[in-house]
Amino acid sequence: MQDLELIAQGAEARLYKGLYLGRMSLVKERFVKNYRHPELDARLTKDRIKAEARAIIRAKSAGIATPALYLVDVERRSIYMEYVENAIVLKDFIDENISGKTDVDDLVEFIGRGLGALIAKLHAKHMIHGDLTTSNILFKNDSVESSYNDQSEAETRFVMIDFGLARLDSTVEDKAVDLYVLERSLLSAHSEVPTLFSRIFHHYQKHYQNKSQCEQVLAKYKQVQARGRKRLMIG
Ligand SMILES: Nc1ncnc2c1ncn2[C@@H]1O[C@H](COP(=O)(O)OP(=O)(O)OP(=O)(O)O)[C@@H](O)[C@H]1O
Ligand SMILES: [Mg+2]
Repeated sequence: MQDLELIAQGAEARLYKGLYLGRMSLVKERFVKNYRHPELDARLTKDRIKAEARAIIRAKSAGIATPALYLVDVERRSIYMEYVENAIVLKDFIDENISGKTDVDDLVEFIGRGLGALIAKLHAKHMIHGDLTTSNILFKNDSVESSYNDQSEAETRFVMIDFGLARLDSTVEDKAVDLYVLERSLLSAHSEVPTLFSRIFHHYQKHYQNKSQCEQVLAKYKQVQARGRKRLMIG
């Protein structure tokens, strides 16, 4: 690895950018947790890394835009993957281009379509992401702004990252919860864009190929949401 540069430090991992075999790469290195027994910590971390790598591969081969996986180094608690160039975290993109601005309907629709299609594809393959937030989606910001008007472009502009909590064999309920987690996170991170979730949800249903399966997810989602409301009322 060459020219390693620390770009982010999360709750569980440090992220570095640098050249690996001539390619711009991102290394996600999980910390040692000192409060855990060393052997237990090593085993849990190894499991998490393997699960994350597996989820990236499975999602990628199902045609979902994710960074390419380059290397899994269990000894160093690290995953090496493609560094997505010219992209920003969707959260920052929304904060800069939508929040507090007028005339943003086309752009909200664009994001709704891109994310709705991406999540529908993932769920149709019985995978869930587990932590759907606008911080775990990259927006490729490399073409001209006018292309937001071309809604068919939407599906090519979003990349899903951070599969640390993903699951491969998910139930209808898991999928409903995945959507609910997204809804809650949008309400708190992007309260100024109140239509965002409903646009995502609309396109999710439109793009979900297996309609009867989609109906099951919707029914479950309504239950999960009702349960969430009740919990909020109780406090
Ligand atoms: N492949 C990538 N290409 C470009 N930037 C990336 C890539 N992966 C991650 N990033 C950047 O690093 C940040 C953190 O990455 P990620 O979400 O995977 O880690 P995390 O949230 O710390 O992980 P976890 O939730 O598993 O602890 C992202 O928000 C993004 O800005
Ligand atoms: Mg993250």
